[in-house]
Amino acid sequence: MGLILEYTASQTALDEDEKEGLLVKTITTRQELDEFEQQNIEQAIKWSMHKRFKISKILSERFVCHLHEKMFDQTWAWAGEFRKSNKNIGVDKYRIGIELGQLLSDCRYWIANNTYSPDEIAIRLKHRIVKIHPFPNGNGRHSRLIADILVEHGFAKPPFTWGSQKIDCNKTKRKEYLHALFCADRENYEPLLMFARK
Ligand SMILES: Nc1ncnc2c1ncn2[C@@H]1O[C@H](COP(=O)(O)OP(=O)(O)O)[C@@H](O)[C@H]1O
Ligand SMILES: [Mg+2]
Repeated sequence: MGLILEYTASQTALDEDEKEGLLVKTITTRQELDEFEQQNIEQAIKWSMHKRFKISKILSERFVCHLHEKMFDQTWAWAGEFRKSNKNIGVDKYRIGIELGQLLSDCRYWIANNTYSPDEIAIRLKHRIVKIHPFPNGNGRHSRLIADILVEHGFAKPPFTWGSQKIDCNKTKRKEYLHALFCADRENYEPLLMFARK
């Protein structure tokens, strides 16, 4: 039953709304899109591995957008651009820049003052950036990758494991991940911290 449902869902044709800005016209199903995006993201990861980013660079609006662009540049015309409409999640579209600026500034303060452990700083960044929801799509994946880059390049620690991946398609893992995000919404970062290194 579960398998059939998942199979059907991934075979679902994308509707016109979902195709807005899609650069590859041959993509017609959710599954094809997921796979194409995944390849694009893997290229972005490779690009990041060949670089050494400083904390001051990572924590800038320019880098936040550039990373999203690198992750989705072959897939979406709007890669790296803030969303221009409101969603049921995220701040008002006019507040994206200001809220992001505030978050990056908070993050620099936490680092300068050792307010939290390095892991917790990266996790708080991940959680708040996905709450702002700067982009039309890909915010979950982008928020995890920027947290990985901050711990690796900024804090010289191993990247997170995020429950050992597959959180976008494994139902049990996804449930655990979303539960950890809900806890973080209530200022309890412990479950997300644990999940990220599981
Ligand atoms: N209640 C919530 N609180 C915080 N983050 C959430 C919540 N619900 C969903 N999210 C985040 O938003 C993401 C979905 O946004 P989306 O832009 O579609 O990202 P992606 O395409 O990478 O999954 C989820 O992966 C999750 O990280
Ligand atoms: Mg999405």
